Formats: sequence, C-alpha cells, structure tokens
Amino acid sequence: MSEQPWWQKAVIYQIYPRSFQDSNADGVGDLNGILDRVDYLSWLGVDAVWISPIYPSPMADFGYDVANYIDIDPVFGTREDFDRLVKALHERSIRVILDFVPNHTSNMHPWFQEARTSRDSSRRDWYLWRDPGPDGAPPNNWLSVASGDSAWEFDRATGQYYHHAFLVEQPDLNWRNPDVRTAMYDVLRFWLDRGVDGFRVDTIWRLIKDAAFRDNPVNPNYREGDAPFRRLLPLYSADQPEVHEIAAEMRHVLAEYPGHRLLIGEIYLPVQRLVAYYGLNLTGVHLPFNFNLMFVEWKPDAVMRLIQEYEAVLPVGAWPNWVLGNHDQPRVATRLGPAQARVAMVLLMTLRGTPTLYYGDELGLKNVPIPPERARDPFGLKMPGTGQDRDAERTPMPWDGSPSAGFTAGEPWLPLGQDRLIMNVEAQKRETGSMLFLTRALLKLRRQEPSISLGDWAPLAVEGDVLAYVRSRDGQRFAVFLNLGSMPRAVRFGEDLGGRIVLSTHPGRIGSAIHDRADLGANEAVIVRLGRAAGAIVE
Ligand code: GLC
Repeated sequence: MSEQPWWQKAVIYQIYPRSFQDSNADGVGDLNGILDRVDYLSWLGVDAVWISPIYPSPMADFGYDVANYIDIDPVFGTREDFDRLVKALHERSIRVILDFVPNHTSNMHPWFQEARTSRDSSRRDWYLWRDPGPDGAPPNNWLSVASGDSAWEFDRATGQYYHHAFLVEQPDLNWRNPDVRTAMYDVLRFWLDRGVDGFRVDTIWRLIKDAAFRDNPVNPNYREGDAPFRRLLPLYSADQPEVHEIAAEMRHVLAEYPGHRLLIGEIYLPVQRLVAYYGLNLTGVHLPFNFNLMFVEWKPDAVMRLIQEYEAVLPVGAWPNWVLGNHDQPRVATRLGPAQARVAMVLLMTLRGTPTLYYGDELGLKNVPIPPERARDPFGLKMPGTGQDRDAERTPMPWDGSPSAGFTAGEPWLPLGQDRLIMNVEAQKRETGSMLFLTRALLKLRRQEPSISLGDWAPLAVEGDVLAYVRSRDGQRFAVFLNLGSMPRAVRFGEDLGGRIVLSTHPGRIGSAIHDRADLGANEAVIVRLGRAAGAIVE
C-alpha cells in the first residue's frame, strides 16, 4: 500500500518539442528527434520527460491550440513514432508525461466547428456562448491572457460571443457540461492506454468560470508596463471552488491504471492558495506546479521565507515540488546571470520535493535575442513591450558547435544563440567544470542519496548573502550552503559540525574536509556530507 510513488524521487525534464531535435530538416523539432536523443537524456540522468503538446494543431499557440486530442501533428510525426519513443524511453527507465490542454480547444477542432454552426447545435453548450451586453458590447469585462483585449469574440453568424481566456483561436470549453468532461476523460484514457505515465494539465486553475460571469475587479497593484491583462484580478475567471471537483475526477481516471500515474497541474498562485489543489485520497492533483522560485527576489531571506512558507502550508502527506524554468518564462540564466544560475541549480536539486528542469537550463542557456522579423510567439506579438514574448526561452537546443548546432539540417524555426560555440552539449561534455557536468552530478547525487531526494528539510542559517539548510534521513545528513552574492563568504560551523564537500559549483573543491569553518567563493554553492549534528554560524 505505501509503495513509494516513482515521481517523488524523480527529476522531471521538460521538452519543448519544436526546439529539442529536428530529424527531417524542416527546422522544427519532432518525435524522431527526441528518439535520437534518448541516450543523452539517460546520460543526464532524468527520470521523466514532460513533452509540451504534440497533437494536431494549427499552431496558433504552437500546439496549445489542439485540433484533435488523440493524434500526433505531422510536424512532430505519427502515432507509431510516438509509440516507438515511449518504448525507447521506458527501456531506459524514463517515464513519459504528456501535456493535456483541457481549458480550450483550437477553433479548428471539429467540436468548435460544429458548435458555431448554430445556436441549436448539439455541441453549442460545449463552449461558453453569451449574448452581447448593452450596445453589442462583450458580455463582461474579462481580459484575454494572450492579448489583454476582451476575452470574448463576437460570432456574427450566430449573434453571440464566445469566451477565450487566451487567443481568439483558443475557445474555452464549458467544463460545467458533463459531456465535455466525459469526452476529455476519454482522451486521458486514450493516452494512458498507450502507456503514458502522467499528464501536466495546462492551466487547470482556469477550467471553471464563475457561473454568473461576473465582472472581474480592477487590480489596484497594476503598474504601467505590466502585462495588460493584469489590469483586472481574475477573481471570477480562475481558481473557482468547483475546479477542485474536476481535478478529483481526473485523478480518478488515472487511478483506473496501475503504476502511480502522475497528475501535475499548471497553476500560477501564491503557495497558500496553490496547496488547495493537492488531492490526497484522490481529491486533487499530485503536484500543483510550484512556480514561486521563478518570481522570488533572489535574496537569501526572501528565498528562505518562500521555502519555509511553502513547507508550512503543505497539507500533511502532500509532496512538494519546485520549478526554475519553463517555456513561458525567461530563462534562469537570464534572470539571475550565469553564475547564480549554477547556484540556483543546486538549490532546485537539493530542496525537498520533485524538481522540474527545463531543457537547455542544464547548459545554462540564456534567452536568445530574437530579431523582430523572426518573432513567432503570438503573445509577444500582441503585447509588445510588456515582457510577454516567449520566443527567447524557446530557442533550439544547441547540441554542437556547427552552424545549426546539430539541431537541424535545415533552417531552425527560431534563431540559435550566438554563444552556441561554448553553450552546447558536446563542448560541455568535454568540460568537467561545465553547467552540464554540475547538473549531471546533482542528479547522480539525488539518485544515490535518499536524504537528498526524499529526506527532511530544515533551515540552518540565513546571513549576509548565504542561505543554508540541512537534508536528512535515516541518520544521513547533508548541509547545503548557497552564496547568493558575488563576494566570497567565510562560513564558521558551530562546534562539532564537520564533514566533507561532496559537490560544489566551483571545480576542485570536492573531497575537502570541513572542520569548523568553510570558505565559500563568490557565487558558490556547496553540499557537505555531515559527520555530526550541530548548528552553523555564517560570518
Ligand atoms: C499555458 C501554457 C502556455 C499556453 C497557455 C494557453 O499557460 O504553458 O504556453 O500559451 O497555457 O494554452
């Protein structure tokens, strides 16, 4: 009964499939490309891959606009390619997590095509249709996350508006309709039958909207330059109480299958509200994605406060998780700089809980500047100047130093970074001090040391630029010291605390004995295997 679910020990690796590896020279990554790289994934040591959407799609939002939930878009391959990939990953003990996009379909999905034919269509109620407000205005003030304009599109043929939380091309499904639920749960079963190990559920917290479609309130904290949709607080368009019922139903579908299938929810909320999505006893998801590290002020006290708050509000039995990057946010090496990106990687891999690693972050890849004529992301194009452009963090994976970086034999769909001569897998595999080696060493340490993958977490110190904590299990203890600053810091241990450095961001430190004092270099993070129990003091 209490068999440990695989995903608690796992490191999840997110693949943005358009940008991982192209196998047919069309400049866009595909399933056979991922297949070509399974040995790399295995070498790196990840336990699961989450693949962003690969379903047939007009690609208005690069796959997050699904036109058929149970097939593969030709740009990515075929169902047979998919089956082959799953098999190859499973043979290497790597699990497969698919992206499930239930909030909206593509406007080209046959369901929507049928729904818009007439008000009497049997699929009409599968979407959210409303009569115009006074003077033909949209039914309420809700704003699209993809544009900042109204989240309602007028359909001339039938004289009503339909709701789209994102693009006009992404009409929202009506999750209050039981037929929608049945159809979508069958989609889950379709992929579960094909052997997938779990789902990342896109924007799960938006599935249910206020039944009365009340206006959202003005956001008093909105500032000039913020994304335009932030002018309003999503009080009635997201995080509604009934959404938990749906998470529970999805969870029950997964429970029909053996082997601890994993349900992850994409939810942008502060930790206090986020943890309501945990579902022990099948009442919610296993892992509500915790994105807060991507937004925290990069100061030891702020980071420590976040970790402690999160640990404090986790329901009993809930398993934590941490995310440092994804296809919607600027890359960590751009947010924090290359040196602190290494420190952040140590943090991600030594906190309690399941880490999710975004492809390319293991190289320290930065956002790639995109010339205006190469810009592709519809969000960026519709909301210029507000930091909503996502192309820069979605650029192709640099595998080697060749002109197309080994990604494609054609023209890559997004430009490659100028620094790809050093920022590539082949170069970093030769360099033991590289970010790639650091990441791999961290993953190896997690696999070898249950105290780091599964152990307890306790704060040790926050002082000056240093943040320190201890991980422990069954008498084994590790201390993690992170210097978030760019000055060297001396760390004096309390009496009797000593050990050996087992990992450092700085080459040449491993194996050093620590007695009562350690010197942390600028931007250095170290992991120390502790000998005896005691406290630590940071000077
Ligand atoms: C999620 C995805 C994002 C997408 C949006 C609409 O936030 O991560 O990439 O644009 O949902 O599906």
